[in-house]
Amino acid sequence: MYQRRQQVAKRLRFYSAVAGAGFLAYLGYYLTKVCKTPTLVYRSGALSHIVRENCSSLIRAYYPPLWAFNTHLQTALGVLRGAAINAGWVRQLVPTSDGGQFALDWWQGETSSNVPPETPIVLVLHGVTGGSFEGTCKAMCKEAASRGYRPAVMVYRGCGGVELLNDQIYSANFTDDAHLAVETINRQYPNAKLTAVGFSLGSIILTKYLGEADSGHWEPEGDGIAAAVAISSPFCLESAGRFLARPWTIAWLYNLIIAYRLKMYGKWHHHVFKDCERLEHVSEKQRQFWTIGQFDERIMSKMMGFQSAQEYYQAASSLPQIPKIRTPILFLAAEDDVFLGELPIRQCSSNPYTLLAITSRGGHVAFLTGLWPFGQAWMDQVALDFLQAVLSHPERIAQIGTEVSSVRPHLSSVQGRSPRKSGRRSVDQALNMAAAALDRHSSMGNMGMATDPGSLEDLVGRAASLMSGTGRASPEPLKKISSRADAGRDLMGTMGRAASFQTALDSLKRSDSMSHGS
Ligand SMILES: *[C@@H]1O[C@H](CO)[C@@H](O)[C@H](O)[C@H]1NC(C)=O
Ligand SMILES: *[C@@H]1O[C@H](CO)[C@@H](O)[C@H](O)[C@H]1NC(C)=O
Repeated sequence: MYQRRQQVAKRLRFYSAVAGAGFLAYLGYYLTKVCKTPTLVYRSGALSHIVRENCSSLIRAYYPPLWAFNTHLQTALGVLRGAAINAGWVRQLVPTSDGGQFALDWWQGETSSNVPPETPIVLVLHGVTGGSFEGTCKAMCKEAASRGYRPAVMVYRGCGGVELLNDQIYSANFTDDAHLAVETINRQYPNAKLTAVGFSLGSIILTKYLGEADSGHWEPEGDGIAAAVAISSPFCLESAGRFLARPWTIAWLYNLIIAYRLKMYGKWHHHVFKDCERLEHVSEKQRQFWTIGQFDERIMSKMMGFQSAQEYYQAASSLPQIPKIRTPILFLAAEDDVFLGELPIRQCSSNPYTLLAITSRGGHVAFLTGLWPFGQAWMDQVALDFLQAVLSHPERIAQIGTEVSSVRPHLSSVQGRSPRKSGRRSVDQALNMAAAALDRHSSMGNMGMATDPGSLEDLVGRAASLMSGTGRASPEPLKKISSRADAGRDLMGTMGRAASFQTALDSLKRSDSMSHGS
């Protein structure tokens, strides 16, 4: 009896030691590989200085939930997140000149009623088939209200209970309603600063709108938007779409789920789709679809007046709009986001009004944090910190256009470390990002390009020039990029620039061996 008890105790000790060691290994992995400072891509100037001084959440490590940092887990939990948040809204229907309508849902909380008319406003633009009912919207509005903003969600035509009145539906290319929303709010609250946060499809619309508004596409009326944040934006629908279209992958599952929600949208507004003249030649059979691609090809693009989904994707890409933006904007992207596609590395490192923050984890519109990740997310804090930092420095923001920047575009973390160390960090980050970009490209096989060869060349080239200035890269990232040299030459070869990639690699290796030799 006694002996048996001893045996059991021994076994228990053994198992708890194994579990303890396993947990420590897990914790070690979490702390070293999962929690990382976001990579920032920007052009040095007033905006990056303001972020360094007043937006500390962006320059510290991001800690995803210890037990749920996996991209799919985060994305799924992110969807559930809002269930616990009670929200009350006052709906303002906005009629459009073409006979349609969309809505502004104004958040009603104890802190947002009876606030003065000059209270700054946060306008939230939701994702595909979304609305103010979504957890992401509710959580962002709740946090914004608690920080003294007046939050509202723009609910697109036919979404979230807004009746669809004609065959002009919302899409990534359609910015007229965003323009009208901004005008309407500017008119209603002429003394309030207006800021905006876009999620997913909403951030494409927001980015496109800003590019158009800042380049004089519309007669300006009111002050427009003062600062913006675009979260989990698929910048290039073409590359993102190709990634989602590979059958039997988890990304494909997302595709089917969204397609199902689009189906529900079509079902609810059946009468509009049935009577739409532009869909005359689309047969009943063709109207059955299972994927986003099929919906975009057969229905969406035709309804918008495009020939094909590809034509729609090209028109709707926000990449060409980014260089035109003159409103401070933060793009927040997670490298593990399946909807990501190509990133605007080039565009953001040459426009002083834009800042791209890339985290290694975060999923799609999730960026959760904490052990119980159902409350406020890291993205809510970062977005509102950024908006606050911009709003509280109007004089410095006004300088951006006049700064004569002799500084080269930066790919760097704006951490205040010693120059040598931060130089090395930048090199490492550039190399790691180039390697990740190549991996993303390879994992897509022949499906298409997730990475713009130009930005890859930029990354490697910049790492090389940084190295010649500061000395060295860490061995790990250097090994990583060298082992992907073939993939790099292949990708760059599609633009006839395989040689320049090789030159950058060679010069990297040269300055590395020089720095070790000295
Ligand atoms: C921004 O940073 C500066 C410099 O660190 C500090 O003096 C100032 O109080 C900060 N402003 C806000 C609004 O946090
Ligand atoms: C796509 O958007 C642009 C800019 O807003 C607009 O000029 C163009 O007409 C749109 N294309 C279609 C087919 O709606």
